[in-house]
Amino acid sequence: MSRVRIWDGTTPWLVTRYDDVRAVLSDARFSADASRPGYPVSSEAVKISRERGPWFVAMDDPEHARYRRMLTAEFAVRNVASMRPMVEATVAELLDGMAAAPQPVDLIEAFALALPSIVVCRILGVPYEDSAFWQEQSKALFDVTSPPDVGRRADNELRAYLDKLIAEKERDPGDDLLSRLATTYIRTGELTRRDAVSMALLLLVGGHETTAHMIGLGTLTLLNHPEQAAAVRDGDDATVTSAVEELLRLLTIVHTGRRRVATEDVEVAGVRIRAGEGVIASEPSANRDPALFAEPDNLDIHRTANHHLAFGFGVHQCLGQPLARLELQVAIPALLRRFPDLRVTAAEHELRFRDEMITYGVHELPVTWGSAE
Ligand code: HEM
Repeated sequence: MSRVRIWDGTTPWLVTRYDDVRAVLSDARFSADASRPGYPVSSEAVKISRERGPWFVAMDDPEHARYRRMLTAEFAVRNVASMRPMVEATVAELLDGMAAAPQPVDLIEAFALALPSIVVCRILGVPYEDSAFWQEQSKALFDVTSPPDVGRRADNELRAYLDKLIAEKERDPGDDLLSRLATTYIRTGELTRRDAVSMALLLLVGGHETTAHMIGLGTLTLLNHPEQAAAVRDGDDATVTSAVEELLRLLTIVHTGRRRVATEDVEVAGVRIRAGEGVIASEPSANRDPALFAEPDNLDIHRTANHHLAFGFGVHQCLGQPLARLELQVAIPALLRRFPDLRVTAAEHELRFRDEMITYGVHELPVTWGSAE
């Protein structure tokens, strides 16, 4: 437990041990409400977005649960399992596209970002043709170095876009999640359009960049461990499942920590945190806690009992995790099987890592295969 100084000059507590991170995230005395004084917000752009239309990831129960409940059936394991054929077909199409493209191919654009973007569009009922627009705005929102006016513009544009889309679905609903929100909850007055826009925004931005950069960085990590990459390529479902969990643990790409603020005095690891003090519960460090994970800095796709915190913990634990897992479990082995000699054409120091983004990864990953260079 130590105090750290963040971008706005405030000094929240940094919690790093696995048990302490779990204790903070499962304790209702720590609030996720970003509008409370003392909440350690991760950037100006995120602050603007959360103030303009709060999304339920930044609310406490019971308000948070009321919104989340409207979506739980959509992302339940069984419902997501029924999406497997769609995910497999999309992966196959994207791999065909890569195979036909001139090499080297940027794996991020051609595959890693495209897959979750197409999938989340299908689920929500957002036209994929608009993806260049919303991917760009989403990037501006999640770049911690975005100046306030850039963050505000991105937030405005995304909300205006989603507002128009949801209004269309209210008039003419289709078979998609946003239409179901419109017909089940907006029509009955349980949900305002403004709140539906916040929900859609959270799902759209939270549902593509995260999975995208897990595919990108996950692939890079496996390529740096050729024996383990081969085990994933040739392995059974159980091997693929444990490999995906291990990549989630080791990479923990939502890397800026869960932000909370104490609503009353609470003791964590023998330290008294006062009401109103901010806390950053760091999953990247919890996921490498040697008390839980032997040789935590090493990739071991056969690691068992891997109860990592890459999807968070407690009431805000990732709603989309069954979908993220499905996409990763399908995408990564399919890529390695299609291009068994896949390799990165750039040296590691030439790659641009996403230090400034809320989701870590690489901006581009040029790859080649076969005899091409
Ligand atoms: C590998 C991919 C993903 C990772 C690493 C990830 C990570 C996370 C984390 C760490 C949280 C906790 C936030 C907090 O406690 O403050 C979270 C929440 C959330 N995630 Fe994900 N996520 C991923 C994919 C997705 C997908 C595909 C969707 C939906 C399409 C999604 C939707 C959400 C939502 C709605 C929440 C808020 C839950 C709540 O507050 O109750 N995520 N995610």
